[in-house]
Amino acid sequence: MADKQATLTVDGKSYDFPVLEGSVGPDVIDIRKLYGQSHMFTYDPGFTSTGSCESSLTYIDGEEGVLLHRGYPIGQLAEHSSFMETAYLLLNGELPNQGELDTFTRTISRHTMLHEQLATFYRGFRRDAHPMAIMCGVVGALSAFYHDSTDIADPEHRKISSHRLIAKMPTIAAMAYKYSVGQPFVYPDNTLSYTGNFLRMTFGVPAEEYEVIPAVEKAMDRIFILHADHEQNASTSTVRLAGSSGANPFACIAAGIACLWGPAHGGANEAALNMLQEIGTPDRIPHFIERAKDKNDPFRLMGFGHRVYKNYDPRATVMQKTVREVFDALKVTDPIFETALRLEELALHDDYFVEKKLFPNVDFYSGIILSAIGFPTTMFTALFALARTVGWVAQWNEMISDPGQKIGRPRQLYTGPTQRDYVPVAKR
Ligand code: CMC
Repeated sequence: MADKQATLTVDGKSYDFPVLEGSVGPDVIDIRKLYGQSHMFTYDPGFTSTGSCESSLTYIDGEEGVLLHRGYPIGQLAEHSSFMETAYLLLNGELPNQGELDTFTRTISRHTMLHEQLATFYRGFRRDAHPMAIMCGVVGALSAFYHDSTDIADPEHRKISSHRLIAKMPTIAAMAYKYSVGQPFVYPDNTLSYTGNFLRMTFGVPAEEYEVIPAVEKAMDRIFILHADHEQNASTSTVRLAGSSGANPFACIAAGIACLWGPAHGGANEAALNMLQEIGTPDRIPHFIERAKDKNDPFRLMGFGHRVYKNYDPRATVMQKTVREVFDALKVTDPIFETALRLEELALHDDYFVEKKLFPNVDFYSGIILSAIGFPTTMFTALFALARTVGWVAQWNEMISDPGQKIGRPRQLYTGPTQRDYVPVAKR
């Protein structure tokens, strides 16, 4: 019995519910018995006040701008860790020792190749297909390839599927890019790091030796860390909901990719850069800020605002720093960065954005970096999907191994017609 109780009173009748405490963060009212006791549902479209599960992976304090993975602040992981190490942490709960990290990295590198038949599958897409469309299709199609590990009740099978997904995602994303530009697919090189291998598969061509630039590799790896997991966001909740029915893990991740694609979620990085390019020069910013504030104009400042962060997104802080590092390494500049900095400054001093607590999010600066590295905007969300796969599989594993796990099945407030009799077409 929980120490704290919450009481709900409706029409003079009271119902008591246990209040559960997490290790940190808001308590939750356990309303699982509400319907049984009262014949009422709660109503929370968009799940703004609903905890959908118990999780020990990621903690966010949106008011303070805090993001922790297994307790470790994102800033420290971005500064000192690697994507492989962060992936291990998310999957296993603790940072690995050197031997564990080496084994994990080697295991992932042994799963980087795709079944050769999938190359044929790619050729079924139109050349101008969006990489996210290809990613949805190809990852879903992996469900048809690995019959040796489909028992999701078996932790070993889940582990193999998770490793395959993390390992194959760079290959899948790079092949989506290669297909769109009409270049030959580049096979993985397992002597390179996870991120170095991805860069080579994306930008390398068979005719020339590809040299990984360490500063770019580091920046890219950091971007992957920043996107690795983010609590119960829309795509993660989609993966959990799909997985709750016992669906094939590759199909669940394809569902997550579909959700991530939207401009309110992972698609915002593509939309943010397109917006900055449309704004062009700093003198045009006030006009766009006015448009973003106008309720009759659908335009929003992309890369601004967040459901959870009501403070600076800590990932945006790291991103902004990384822009400068990549520019220095590649000896490039981009006037769009100046526009972005000025836009941020003006928005942060504008009453509308201050009152609504709208700050730059992870997507505001990421596009500028990715563009400097050489990615077309259509690839941005595919890179997000690549990195978020770690969080998706970790959350999926956590859910399946929870003994109290049930199929996700929300209810509704029905507002349609009440029962009525069918009328034959001739009489309508
Ligand atoms: N520009 C202008 N106004 C905004 C913006 C924005 N970017 N974001 C929110 N608002 C306003 C919104 O109009 C609303 O005003 P009012 O209360 O007067 O109706 C208020 O702020 C609250 O917005 P909301 O849409 O009700 O908040 P939400 O929590 O449902 O949406 C969001 C969060 C991220 C979808 C939204 O801020 C947004 O559309 N931002 C732009 C897209 C974006 O950058 N998305 C990436 C999110 S971070 C990466 C990820 O997790 O995928």
